[in-house]
Amino acid sequence: MQLLLTGSFSAQERGEWRGHLQAALPGARWWLDDEAFPAAEIEAAVVANPAPGRLQGLPRLRLIQSLWAGVDRLLRDDTLPAGVPIARMVDPAMNETMAETALWAVLSLHRGFFDYARQQAERRWQPHPLRRAGEVRVTVLGLGEMGGAALRLLRQHGYDAAGWRRSDGEAALPPLLARSGVLINLLPLTPQTTGVLNAALFSQLPPGAAIVNLARGAHLVEADLLAALDSGQIGHAVLDVFATEPLPDGHAFWAHPRITVLPHVAAQTDARSAAAIAVRNLVALQQGQPLSNLVDRQRGY
Ligand code: GLV
Repeated sequence: MQLLLTGSFSAQERGEWRGHLQAALPGARWWLDDEAFPAAEIEAAVVANPAPGRLQGLPRLRLIQSLWAGVDRLLRDDTLPAGVPIARMVDPAMNETMAETALWAVLSLHRGFFDYARQQAERRWQPHPLRRAGEVRVTVLGLGEMGGAALRLLRQHGYDAAGWRRSDGEAALPPLLARSGVLINLLPLTPQTTGVLNAALFSQLPPGAAIVNLARGAHLVEADLLAALDSGQIGHAVLDVFATEPLPDGHAFWAHPRITVLPHVAAQTDARSAAAIAVRNLVALQQGQPLSNLVDRQRGY
């Protein structure tokens, strides 16, 4: 089997991925996209946000396996060969990592740890009243693999957490928003969910609520967040993802006292487990077995 590994990797990541993939499927020939690969022979491509157009001209391509959980950027490439199945990365290890990030954010908000970090910078000694976990109401938007894992972990830790998915319907959302001190976004990015974190949504939250965006930068209307932080409608935002990544040097978010910035690390793909999961699908392809984690191109995830 001739396989192509392509994406926006650093040279080091590339080598590491090929090492893990080769170890998991030693019988195959793994090509990197900067090598003179035999385009006519490539049967599957393992991809991490490949350059647009990269998957054209592969006449025997039968599977595009993403190493990323979110395939929004991949699907924006309108030269993707039609009819070739696309699988996204679903890795329990990644779901767990995402749930840990959600728990860290909620716990830090609940216990005031972001406030205490700010106070330390000002050499200010000021304890705040204690709340119990059960008094902290959280809503998780998106109940896929990652949203579901986050919701379970938050509940295990005693938070009063609820979840919402688009299929619950728009009408189910306002009552949840009205009770949410923390709103975590783990929706897939689709045309329907682009810009969902906007002024109209913020105004439905209790004043001072926190936003935790762990999904995609395009879910958030950045100017609306800055205005809501200014007015106090939003008390704090934890952001892992941004409209432009890396977050540009002069961006207002970097130094904002009520924004915590992470460099898109809420659930990094772990090559050790993800390579084995990608290979499972390649073996299924070889053996004519059903493929897992297929993306519905129409739905967008
Ligand atoms: C990360 O954002 C991913 O989609 O895997």
